[in-house]
Amino acid sequence: MSGGVTLPARAKLNLSLDVLGKRADGFHDLRMVMQSCSLADEVRVEPAAPGDFLAQTNRSYIPSGDKNVAVKAARAYYAALGRPGGAHMRITKRIPVCAGLGGGSADAAAVLLALNELEGGALDGDALRAAALAAGSDVPFCLMGGTALAEGRGEVLTPLKALPETDVVICMPYFNCSTPELFARVDSRRSRCRPDTAGLLAALEAGDIQGVARRMYNVFEDALDKRAAKAVGELKSALLSCGALGAAMSGSGSAVFGLFPDRASAERARGAAEPLCREVFLARTE
Ligand code: C5P
Repeated sequence: MSGGVTLPARAKLNLSLDVLGKRADGFHDLRMVMQSCSLADEVRVEPAAPGDFLAQTNRSYIPSGDKNVAVKAARAYYAALGRPGGAHMRITKRIPVCAGLGGGSADAAAVLLALNELEGGALDGDALRAAALAAGSDVPFCLMGGTALAEGRGEVLTPLKALPETDVVICMPYFNCSTPELFARVDSRRSRCRPDTAGLLAALEAGDIQGVARRMYNVFEDALDKRAAKAVGELKSALLSCGALGAAMSGSGSAVFGLFPDRASAERARGAAEPLCREVFLARTE
């Protein structure tokens, strides 16, 4: 094995997110419609001495060792391969962290694909998917990309008819969410509002993007504290008033996104959202 491989690591958006219940293993059974988009990190992977794993990024607060999900993925790769290996990863982050956009998961998936390229395709699809789940619940979807229904922990994937390419505006509010805290809040109450997943799937199948966008919903929006709920509500209103077909929070937040009928309304929405949040990204579903 020699040289290195560079791959894009695309963010994911939750067109819907439903929590079905808590499992005996501490995880939750989920039902989510997932969509990858053009907002992406860049991941370069180079072979290193056995046992030497390092993930360096352009963000000083991201750990470079075993706490980094990219390192977990590389270790899982060699555990599955059944022989010692090592990898140095250089990750150019563009996807915001703690956003619900699967940035770390996307990096981990890119690491698995890059290592498998460097190792001449030594792992088959099933082994790669198992290594992905060992790294994190959203990593299997990130391996696959596109549009998919994700169930179980997030790893039971059904590919769906692709959403037509659509302009997306992604906003990063000033607050952060704690994923375990949000799950605990959802556990402790009957969710008042649930996504119409069946209706969303039917709209996708029919290529009805307005029907999809209208049904976008995330149960975690119902579990936010007052301040966060207000910020999400304001951002969604700003996006919708600029012509978004629908808007929702992604994953366990705090990113809020809207789907737009054209670039001009997406640009307008970016301008309207900028004063309300930390960062705004214009992207496309793909
Ligand atoms: O698998 P991952 O490391 O991404 O999960 C992070 C945390 O999110 C878990 O420790 C768990 O608290 C929660 N989680 C869950 N059920 C899932 C996925 C994640 O409870 N299906």
